[in-house]
Amino acid sequence: MKITFGDVPKKAKDTLRVSLASQKTTDVTLIDGIRHVAIGIDDPKKVTLRRLFLIARQIIAIAKVQKVKRVAIHFSDFHFPEVELSRREVAELLGANFEMANFEFVKYKTPPPEGWSFIEEVIVSGTSWDDVREGFKIGQVIGDEVNKCRALANTPGGEMTPKKLAQEAKSAVKGLGVHVTVFGERAMKKIGMGGVLGVSRGSDEEAQFIILEYKKGSVKEKPIVLVGKGVTFDTGGLNLKPENYMYEMHMDMSGGAAVIHTLALAARLKLKKNIIGIIPAVENMPSGSSYHPGDVLRSYSGKTIEVLNTDAEGRIILADGLAYAKKYNPRLVVDVATLTGAASAALGSRATALFTKDEKLERLFRNLGEESGDFVWPLPLWDEYEEEIKGTFGDWANVGKTRYGGAINAAIFLYQFAKEYPWVHLDIAPRMTSIEGEYLAKGAAGAPVRLLIKLLERF
Ligand code: BES
Ligand code: ZN
Ligand code: ZN
Repeated sequence: MKITFGDVPKKAKDTLRVSLASQKTTDVTLIDGIRHVAIGIDDPKKVTLRRLFLIARQIIAIAKVQKVKRVAIHFSDFHFPEVELSRREVAELLGANFEMANFEFVKYKTPPPEGWSFIEEVIVSGTSWDDVREGFKIGQVIGDEVNKCRALANTPGGEMTPKKLAQEAKSAVKGLGVHVTVFGERAMKKIGMGGVLGVSRGSDEEAQFIILEYKKGSVKEKPIVLVGKGVTFDTGGLNLKPENYMYEMHMDMSGGAAVIHTLALAARLKLKKNIIGIIPAVENMPSGSSYHPGDVLRSYSGKTIEVLNTDAEGRIILADGLAYAKKYNPRLVVDVATLTGAASAALGSRATALFTKDEKLERLFRNLGEESGDFVWPLPLWDEYEEEIKGTFGDWANVGKTRYGGAINAAIFLYQFAKEYPWVHLDIAPRMTSIEGEYLAKGAAGAPVRLLIKLLERF
């Protein structure tokens, strides 16, 4: 969408004027043949940052229902006593959330006769400050990459294979100064990535190990490494998922998609940092050549993994990804994965599960979550949980001994491969898809791209 600054032409009939008003309900009225919407926000003193994300998206959602192409807002409407943001930051928030609310995954749909109801222009009046313009511009770039991440994650599993994901990684960062390396199965065999290769055995599609390198920091500065789960479809393997649990498993590469588009975003924003993205990509399939429950895999780290359940595949490929990250001598590693249904059981659908041994990082991530709208909430990562995943015939079992604490068992498993650097694990399964009332289209939610970019800017 285009964002322009200035007053709305008086007779702009295709423009919806939106204001925020301290009433309780939202009204649509016609004044001189021009539609006005007053979004009821009740008490302005009660408008929090969390609420502001929703208001921004609601504006676009209402405009789409009204089938207009243009929306006019007044910038000063967005100043609230409880929201401690600068003008520039408010503009960035609006830019990002307008874009996010304007996205729908229509690639495979025939357009309706009247065309799609996307908003083409937002006219912002009451401001001409450069910092506001700059904020909107950056916000739109952020929103755009979040949407590209959502489109990638939404792409059906039949089309989005590991090789296709590798191609998408390349095209996402084309011309942005990000170097992409992709290992196929031969290369992985040579260096001993038994985790990725093990999970991939049942699939006809070749596994890929995707590496993105963006080095615009000083040569001496250690990089931040982002590791994303890239399971392009998760059937569960021989421990086949029951039918209604398999439905959305083409989105099991959402972590990988978030890493790809966070790197693209960092490059577009020209961050002066060293950032590495690592995405082990596989398809988890049942077949005559699948890995079996009971198999013992030798991971890239040298430690062995006893496979007790082939559906706990994400942690196995991430074990190789995390061990590989060590090569970069990182100052921080963050992995992002749709790892467990148990994280959703624990947190519902409103927060990503956060795991780290480092209290400072825990606090930082919680703050970044609040600031970005990609909310996170901590769960414990105590050594005691290691008891749950001690293997019988291998070093570490890929599932816990009981059916309790599944998200924690997965996290403590990953920790075995991430002990040598500061590390944060984000289980984004709860935020894989958007929910009712968020004013986001159905499908992938694009978490946690907004959080990660703030991290990269700040850390
Ligand atoms: N990809 C799934 C987790 C998942 C489920 C993500 C639903 C998003 C929505 C993961 O690979 C998986 O199957 N995990 C199992 C682990 C279990 C076998 C220990 C789970 O959560 O049930
Ligand atoms: Zn699985
Ligand atoms: Zn999975």
